[in-house]
Amino acid sequence: MRKKLIAGNWKMNLCAKEAESFTKEMKGTVNTDAADVVFCVPYVHLSAVRDILAGTHIKVGAQNMHYAEDGAYTGEISAKMLASMDIPYVIVGHSERREYFKESDTEVNLKALTALNSGLTPIICIGETSKQRKSKRTFNVIRKQLAFAIDEMSAEDIAKIVIAYEPVWAIGTGETATKEQAEEVCALIRDEIKAAHGAAAADAVRILYGGSVSPDNAGELFSMPNIDGGLVGGASLKSTFEKVVHF
Ligand code: PGA
Repeated sequence: MRKKLIAGNWKMNLCAKEAESFTKEMKGTVNTDAADVVFCVPYVHLSAVRDILAGTHIKVGAQNMHYAEDGAYTGEISAKMLASMDIPYVIVGHSERREYFKESDTEVNLKALTALNSGLTPIICIGETSKQRKSKRTFNVIRKQLAFAIDEMSAEDIAKIVIAYEPVWAIGTGETATKEQAEEVCALIRDEIKAAHGAAAADAVRILYGGSVSPDNAGELFSMPNIDGGLVGGASLKSTFEKVVHF
């Protein structure tokens, strides 16, 4: 039985004091053993948030990393650095990084492989645009992004990663995918993994839905058989985030 995972993605929000007080508030309200909970926070808040949450079951993640082990990449952060700070999760290939920073499928794959090599759990994001959905290309887009993202991974690697299905049209728009739309694509992802890596890997891999998840829709989305939780943006910055976690 896969344990649910609810990952908050703070994106580029909250200054130091705000991050500390919000984390303290969440520490008091988010308490469930039923789901794993991760706060993916800006790099500059990683230590502070990790320290406040020490002793709780809430984990901390980064929102990005570079795929190189180290080197002359001014301004970048490596997987090894995150691992050395006891940060267990990292988001890779978020659609905002793909769109605004032109991250390619190949880079997303390299990042995921480097994350695994350093013992981190990559939360790999894939998802179609509105145009692709309207022209009925969703399944093909997902198959292609997934194949790139997990290239060179073994079945053991696959069992460790997290995949977040995030339709681009649903991110930050308030237009959530219906539970049927989300389930259909998450099931496709699991089927593709089963075909490529076998039933054990497909049963183990956690597949999240992301895109305008809120306290109102979390319950129905996360109850679908192939949706193992959510990647939550806007709603993870509100006091009511505990309602998403305790869906
Ligand atoms: P949203 O963002 O919940 O605000 O739509 C989700 C995400 O970008 O991961």
